Amino acid sequence: MSLQRSPANAIDWALFHDHGQGHLHAHWQDLTAEQRLDFERQLVSIHPPLLRQLFEKDNSANTTQASIEPPELLSLTAQPDDSLLLRYKQIGEQALRQGEVAVLMVAGGQGTRLGHHGPKGTFPIGPISGCSLFQLHAERLLALTRQFDRAIPLLIMTSTENDQATRSFWRAEDYFGLSPQHVHFFVQGMMPAVDAVTGQVLLSGPGQIGLSPNGHGGVLQALADHGLLGVLSKQGIRHLFYFQVDNPLVAIADPAFVGAHIDRRSEMSVKVVEKVDPHERIGLVVQRGGRCAVIEYTELTKEMAAERTEQGKLRWRAGNTAIHCFDLAFLQKLAGGTTMLPFHRAHKIMPFWSLEKMALISPAQPNAYKFEMFIFDALPMAQRTLVMECERADEFEPLKNAEGEYSPATVRAALSERWARWLRKLGIAVPTDAQGCCVVPIEISPLFATDPNELARCWPADQKAVTGPVWLKREDQRLEF
Ligand code: UD1
Repeated sequence: MSLQRSPANAIDWALFHDHGQGHLHAHWQDLTAEQRLDFERQLVSIHPPLLRQLFEKDNSANTTQASIEPPELLSLTAQPDDSLLLRYKQIGEQALRQGEVAVLMVAGGQGTRLGHHGPKGTFPIGPISGCSLFQLHAERLLALTRQFDRAIPLLIMTSTENDQATRSFWRAEDYFGLSPQHVHFFVQGMMPAVDAVTGQVLLSGPGQIGLSPNGHGGVLQALADHGLLGVLSKQGIRHLFYFQVDNPLVAIADPAFVGAHIDRRSEMSVKVVEKVDPHERIGLVVQRGGRCAVIEYTELTKEMAAERTEQGKLRWRAGNTAIHCFDLAFLQKLAGGTTMLPFHRAHKIMPFWSLEKMALISPAQPNAYKFEMFIFDALPMAQRTLVMECERADEFEPLKNAEGEYSPATVRAALSERWARWLRKLGIAVPTDAQGCCVVPIEISPLFATDPNELARCWPADQKAVTGPVWLKREDQRLEF
């Protein structure tokens, strides 16, 4: 086998051999001319020295007590009165009315933990209607466009695996009433996965590199590659509200959050919820070296995770909701600059094509390292940041697992409970158990009301209690009990 550049291809095989990827060259010899063309197209995007560096990098080190501090939090509910909340709300509403805000939903990845076939956003989550995550998000956005009489562009990041299915779903649902010209789908990038023992790039079939999505941090590159930052900028967008498809409680484009972000001239803002259970698997916002950063729960020692303040709260409790607001100019700077977000190594199960057995192997245990970038690694790169605390019960219950914590059961209960609280705020009695939890499913379409004040405007004054399931939807303005 020659290590020189073959005139027939542009692959620097010596580089592959030098960095432990010689098996790809050996495999090349087995392929037909047509397969080689396709394989070569895939190989040119592989950077063997980078892969080796990522494979060898140990990112399991624990964060030490000395290196981090709790972040400075803005809590609008802990203020002596509502004046700051109202001021920020007004600033955010003005930005929305002037068309300066766009919304970005990350809906890529693989969603393996949930075990749902199809894009995660298609999961039926409405407690009564069974409507999808996508529908709830789209309806909230549609309600906002009506309220502010302004189109709010929606960017949806998909992955290679779910892109077509996602687009078809939205088309079949007629974009849930949104104008298709304001909905932009774009696909995130992929990264080769490597064998966790040898570091060799895995194959998914003959002449096919085993790829996996490059993490939600891949959004920066993908936005730039698809020219979307330029499109937004031309439309006069200055702020980008970012969220993950998995959280149906998110207050998309929350005016108070957007307003605080603008008023503080923050480049990147994040909403946090209080972590109350030391075992909860949630990322944490901290201060490190004078900069804001997110660390994963796995980075804290057990002792640190359980440490409490004099008031009995967890010391490390600023739970990362993955809800952000970005200054568009900051994103343009990052995407156009040379500083990349770092890759993190994750030990995962990945079926692979075995060159010895010439067969597809489906391992039962993690066998591969996948490499992902995380969007929150942009936080330390921002000059000015804002960490705003919000109520978990109002805004955060993501769908992650098939059972247990963050599962369909907990998410539907959290949705019903939040809407029950809106009714109770209006003085409506709702059937509850001994713990005060609502025992009937409740669903209020965002097109009917996006908050208790709007609900108060449509609720019949003589209706003082509900006794069974409540489903409020827009089509007919009828209330169903
Ligand atoms: C993530 C955060 C965690 C935060 C939590 C809040 C990481 C490493 N951690 O945890 O700090 O507290 O969310 O819910 O992200 N996605 C893509 N492309 C990808 C991977 C993910 O679009 O390649 C999107 C999907 O919408 C997915 C979401 O990001 O639903 C979250 O990704 P996931 O891997 O589920 O993150 P978590 O580990 O749950």
